[in-house]
Amino acid sequence: MNLKETIYKRQSIRKYDKTPLAEETLEEIRHFIDNAAVLNPDIEWSYDIVGRDNVRTLQRFKAPHYILIFSQPKDNYLQNVGFIFQQADLFLQSRGIGSCWIGAGGPKKYENPNHGQEYIIMIAFGNPQGELYRNSSQFRRKIICEISDERDSKLIPARLAPSATNSQTWYFTHNDDGSYNLYRNRPKFRLNKKTDVWNQVDMGIALAHMYVANEESFKFASEGHHEKLSGKVFEGTFTI
Ligand SMILES: Cc1cc2nc3c(=O)[nH]c(=O)nc-3n(C[C@H](O)[C@H](O)[C@H](O)COP(=O)(O)O)c2cc1C
Repeated sequence: MNLKETIYKRQSIRKYDKTPLAEETLEEIRHFIDNAAVLNPDIEWSYDIVGRDNVRTLQRFKAPHYILIFSQPKDNYLQNVGFIFQQADLFLQSRGIGSCWIGAGGPKKYENPNHGQEYIIMIAFGNPQGELYRNSSQFRRKIICEISDERDSKLIPARLAPSATNSQTWYFTHNDDGSYNLYRNRPKFRLNKKTDVWNQVDMGIALAHMYVANEESFKFASEGHHEKLSGKVFEGTFTI
């Protein structure tokens, strides 16, 4: 299955076979991440693949591997991380490997060699125990009209994107020139600082799905003409 097809099948996996993946497979994953598309080339970021002893999570489940993700904290770095690593999530699942973004947790007994970069988030992965893919009726997602000013099936890849606590805080508007603006719903009440971080990562994740579905034509800019919408934060403009 290719990455585009995986958008319509993927799901977060929370049950793993404890057996580690072959080193060759981990190398393939590193190769994919090292060559993934970025939103903002001016931001330095890095990652490391570690085992379960190097993470603390609030989850009851454990995976044999985790991608710890770090970035320079500048510009749209949270979007950038979501964009890069959602491609990795799709790659893993396209290769039959289960994965799940993990916001609630962090590195343990681990020192990041890239000083000046902050720990952002991680992705658990490994061979799934049970079904890896879901069928389209199993997606729990908002309908297009709730996430867009127009009914537009071209937005389905973004609609199916994963988000922290499945919050789907994205909102799309259409411009006269055919481009789209992306907004993030400002939370009605702020649960904690982490929610804000995760929701910005979510924006990059939705953009990654739009990119993968329109690889040849996708273009993004974080600045651009936009209307101010009440209760929403402008996140950028893109064409597909
Ligand atoms: C930024 C982010 C953080 C997440 N954090 C967690 C987490 O800490 N624990 C967890 O079990 N799932 C986590 N998830 C997975 C979401 O709960 C999941 O993507 C969402 O409910 C949609 O389900 P699906 O991925 O199966 O389509 C996270 C997802 C994202 C995008």
